[in-house]
Amino acid sequence: MNRKQQIIQSAIEANIINNDLTAIGIMDLDSLKKTILAVQQAFPQNFFHTFAVKANALLSVLASIKDNGMGAEVASPGELLIALEAGFNTEHIIFDSPAKTISDLRQCLAKDISINIDNIQELERLDKLMLEYPQTKSVIGFRVNPQIGSGVISSTSTATATSKFGYALADNNNRQTLIDIYKARPWLTSIHTHTGSQGCELTLMAKGVSALTELAEEINDNIAGQQVVRLDIGGGLPVNFASEEVNPTFTEYAELLNEHAPILFTNKYQVKTEFGRAIVAKNGVIVTRVEYTKTAGDRHIAITHAGAQILTRTAFLPKAWPLRITGFTPLGKEKTAQVAEPVMTDVAGPCCFAGDLVCVNQLLPKLAIDDYVMVHDTGGYYFSNHFDYNSLPRVGVFAVSGENQNLNIKCIRKADSIEDVLSKM
Ligand SMILES: Cc1ncc(COP(=O)(O)O)c(C=O)c1O
Repeated sequence: MNRKQQIIQSAIEANIINNDLTAIGIMDLDSLKKTILAVQQAFPQNFFHTFAVKANALLSVLASIKDNGMGAEVASPGELLIALEAGFNTEHIIFDSPAKTISDLRQCLAKDISINIDNIQELERLDKLMLEYPQTKSVIGFRVNPQIGSGVISSTSTATATSKFGYALADNNNRQTLIDIYKARPWLTSIHTHTGSQGCELTLMAKGVSALTELAEEINDNIAGQQVVRLDIGGGLPVNFASEEVNPTFTEYAELLNEHAPILFTNKYQVKTEFGRAIVAKNGVIVTRVEYTKTAGDRHIAITHAGAQILTRTAFLPKAWPLRITGFTPLGKEKTAQVAEPVMTDVAGPCCFAGDLVCVNQLLPKLAIDDYVMVHDTGGYYFSNHFDYNSLPRVGVFAVSGENQNLNIKCIRKADSIEDVLSKM
């Protein structure tokens, strides 16, 4: 029995999926630890890896990520609050956001939280605030957009010519302007880029990082001494959603970066990464129950409780975010072609709109009422997203750890029952 089969069996034996709790997310904290070890081993000691909290903002998951030696990249005050509550040291947190308010900036400077400045107007705010906090230990850098192009998913591509993120490096005289900005401000000691996320080829990401290292070198060449000491190269390592295989690996990315931007590996700079999806996606699954089945046209349809509310990207942009599905019997046996005849199937969610589908017209062993459906690779940006708690009355989240027959599953986010929700009204 493989680990995912063990996990679903344990969940069934513990009666976790019941009438109040009809879809759950499960994070495998042991395999998460292995992923973190893989990123740490792929890069040398001058790298420090932060986790992009937006990818999974669950306290217990973040606490585990922190315990395994990562820092936190946050993009909103809410994420910052959760990261602090999870126990990250302020010196290991970096605040990115294109919309930081004056009080966001003030709080970061007061608490020594690092900041990546997004634009010139934000810089002007910081110029004033630095007079108030001259002693801050916040490491401050500028986010640049190298404008090198888009990956295949436009909504996750951040280095396009017109991206809303960062300072557009190739426009007009911006490169020289940025060099002058650094020259005039000795407190600017870092520089940041994030080329994009899922859908960006590794070579595109490496090109973006290479543009960053060239710029850092040019800035330092224009200033006596080495003013820029930190390079923040963002996250974005894509995840393979088509099979269990981890592809690309952190090691492959490290090798490519070594080709395109070898200075990263020389100890001249402290290098920060901000991986999100590649840390968590493959370490989480959604399990839901088939509430009903029916046939419409020639299509077998299985109606479950996991749809647009927790599989939002897939429901709204199915071509960009396809997910793998495995069926299980009510006793937790995997539904292979030997167990049930494969038929063309739509797996649907519970929401009242026709696009609420997890997969469309896929050949799957025939799902039946009370079966379970596992949606793979959903540990990032799915059930863990920080939607309003009360809008998810039926989705609890569990963490699993341990080996073989001794799996331990515990609740890390309680789901309200319908009674709980109504009693609050
Ligand atoms: C600035 C920044 N860093 C890191 C990430 C994490 O990206 P990924 O989850 O693709 O690794 C994002 C994603 O939006 C981001 O905007």
